[in-house]
Amino acid sequence: MGAAMTDPPKLRLDRIGKRFDVQGAAATVAVDDFTLDIRQGEFLVIVGPSGCGKTTVLNVLAGLEQPSGGNVTIDGRQIRGPGPDRGVMFQDYALFPWHTVWGNVEFGLRHGPAGNGLDGAARQQRVKSYVDLVGLAGSETKYPHQLSGGMRQRVALARLMANEPDVLLMDEPLAALDAQTRLILQDELLRIWGQDRQPAARRTVVFITHAIDEAVFLADRVAVMTSHPGRLKAVIDVDLPRPRNDATRAMPRFQALTQHIWSLIRDEAYRATVT
Ligand SMILES: Nc1ncnc2c1ncn2[C@@H]1O[C@H](COP(=O)(O)OP(=O)(O)O)[C@@H](O)[C@H]1O
Ligand SMILES: [Mg+2]
Repeated sequence: MGAAMTDPPKLRLDRIGKRFDVQGAAATVAVDDFTLDIRQGEFLVIVGPSGCGKTTVLNVLAGLEQPSGGNVTIDGRQIRGPGPDRGVMFQDYALFPWHTVWGNVEFGLRHGPAGNGLDGAARQQRVKSYVDLVGLAGSETKYPHQLSGGMRQRVALARLMANEPDVLLMDEPLAALDAQTRLILQDELLRIWGQDRQPAARRTVVFITHAIDEAVFLADRVAVMTSHPGRLKAVIDVDLPRPRNDATRAMPRFQALTQHIWSLIRDEAYRATVT
């Protein structure tokens, strides 16, 4: 089931601008003239220094922010607000502390449009399959405070996936985790995304990180942003084979891509530390 050449891209950002008017100060141009097409099934990662507008771009795709200029579409339709075709996950995506793992994963299916048409049994089955997929079988009755950071993000991932959105929008979801847990969850994320499946059977992912090695490990393409105003500086094809694993991280090509992307943002990142 390959997409025909004439199909619109899954997501299109067409000359997006976003200006924040701040009372009593000059307006902040968070994003300027940002144009990018994202394909069905693509894993697209946006990197750039702190404050360059990454979250703003994601919020525009999520429909949580309206752009000040330009057009943003999904399957050729204008994005005017949030929708069940797009699911969002944040770094500190607060789980509901009064719900168990199971209750958190089930939440969107009980209370959101994603559960429409599912009877109780189908809903239970759906929750179970995603709890299993993220490796939380056996922890269903635990509460968030009983879980490690890595397990909490597994719950957040299962909750996101259980709604089965076409597009996963992920804003630094691994940033708060320790280095080892982060590497493990990078592997898991690719498995859950379906790197063993054909591209047409994969979900489309827009993933934000400030970690360049994470970007290269995960991405089909890396979009590099620069700041003030937030612009797209380059889009890098990551031509590393899939499935990817620890051996990928040791490849000279992995190192070369990481170095190349770092060279693109080094000056910007340096300035961000001194201004
Ligand atoms: N609601 C807002 N009001 C005013 N300025 C904002 C708002 N949201 C973001 N900004 C500014 O826009 C710029 C980009 O922010 P953001 O998209 O959060 O960057 P990043 O995610 O890359 O760190 C920053 O200068 C930030 O201070
Ligand atoms: Mg951000």
